[in-house]
Amino acid sequence: MNDPDKLVIFDTTLRDGEQSPGISLDAAEKLEIAEQLARLGVDYIEAGFPVASQGDFEAVRAIARTVQGPAIAGLSRTQVSDVDRCWDALRDAERARIHVFISTSPQHMEHMLKMDRGQVLAATRSGVARAAEHTTDVEFSPQDATRTPLDFMLEVLQAAVDNGATTLNIPDTVGYGIPWDFGALIQYIRREVKGDYVTSVHCHNDLGLATANSLAGVQAGARQIEVCVNGLGERAGNAALEEVVMAVKIRADQFPGLSTGVRTEELARTSRLVSRLTGYPIQYNKAVVGRNAFQHESGIHQHGVLADRSTYEIIDANSVGQVGSQIVLGKHSGRHAFSDTLAKMNIHISGDMLNAAFNRFKELADRKVELTDADLEAIVAEEMGERLEDTYSLESLEVSGGTVGVPRATVVVLRAGEKMEATGEGDGMIDAACKAIKAATGVDGTLTGFNVSAVTGGVDALGDVIVQLEAGGIRVSGRGVSTDVVEASARAYLSAVNKVLRIQSRAEVRQDEVGP
Ligand code: KIV
Ligand code: ZN
Repeated sequence: MNDPDKLVIFDTTLRDGEQSPGISLDAAEKLEIAEQLARLGVDYIEAGFPVASQGDFEAVRAIARTVQGPAIAGLSRTQVSDVDRCWDALRDAERARIHVFISTSPQHMEHMLKMDRGQVLAATRSGVARAAEHTTDVEFSPQDATRTPLDFMLEVLQAAVDNGATTLNIPDTVGYGIPWDFGALIQYIRREVKGDYVTSVHCHNDLGLATANSLAGVQAGARQIEVCVNGLGERAGNAALEEVVMAVKIRADQFPGLSTGVRTEELARTSRLVSRLTGYPIQYNKAVVGRNAFQHESGIHQHGVLADRSTYEIIDANSVGQVGSQIVLGKHSGRHAFSDTLAKMNIHISGDMLNAAFNRFKELADRKVELTDADLEAIVAEEMGERLEDTYSLESLEVSGGTVGVPRATVVVLRAGEKMEATGEGDGMIDAACKAIKAATGVDGTLTGFNVSAVTGGVDALGDVIVQLEAGGIRVSGRGVSTDVVEASARAYLSAVNKVLRIQSRAEVRQDEVGP
């Protein structure tokens, strides 16, 4: 079971990553990310926490039913009913894992659980044993491990193994670890806890040490790392998938014989997709996937890289998918070239979805000289979001603004063929457009996040806008793409409104009170 040469990549973007403040992915978005994670080649996808909400349950079940390749994991507290619910969501997966956790630190036990050591031990035994009745693949995590007294942690971990846990995950829940100290902890646990299990590490980034601590854990014998794409996760986030994977690959000398199954050329695309769907921008200087990761500013550096890339680059940009094929399409490109190009980019759509994306491409190609692969990716992503919601679509938008007078907007939206027109005034043209949409759709929400970025460089770049909207207790994100940022913003706002309506109609309200 414990292959010493295999480093298992356990991706928790859809669970811990989704717990990042302001992120709220619906089932369709989670499924899209899960499909890409499968293409990337991760070993496990932690798809969610099924007991947290009906929406999360359905998302985990949809992923378990459709995503091929990686095993699908779901998180569960130790309560037997939670474990059963988790299994209900997972049971149709090709391979499924139940991830059971309970807090073991004095801080958590006293202030959150209100349980003593005996109760936590008993809950560990019963939760893990119940999970093992459903599947032979059971992971156990003592939450806040790095602030847990060692004697107690060993007792809990041994109880978990004795009751059927096959992976012991050591979470540095609050990012308290220091690499050599965390490595020593892992070594100690591996020596003291008897049985056949894989040791896993789950590091948070509160001190910016999540990747370093994870690698220290691997050096000490851990063979699973829990990661999130772009380092998403609670507070400062989790160890970034792309960093951990590339560190093991580039510094193979430090991890002799060890390898992951990740297809690194898919890293940049995965990072962009997650950024788009979560609304979390990628830091410019983010390691591996940031847009500056392969840019050289100073003359000396440029000279060096032109002479030989190895002078200032340790990673080949192609190997992480950072140099796109830069396939360029323009207004003269036909449907065939369009769908061929998408297929080359590993985007497979057909029927109505392809027609809609092609029409939108033509519309934008008329306004912009050429569209790159990154532009196409953004257009398809927006269109796919639209199709799923399909409530209101933007028919037209007219705005006026400037330094004189009050900015105004008039929108016409379509719902089931019926036109609705409304006007709005605001602090700027974007605000006015959003107010007009509010008036036209009747959905009154508060914008809690707004991010605009250029899909590619240059003044004629497509603007890609992501908004986060809160309406009636529901938090959603919406995305819009256009050559005009006001239009992109209106599209993003409308897509968020559509999502709110869809969730309301399915009464899929997220219950925030249950959380790890
Ligand atoms: O950080 C943490 O402790 C977790 C556990 C649920 C594994 O996310
Ligand atoms: Zn965590």
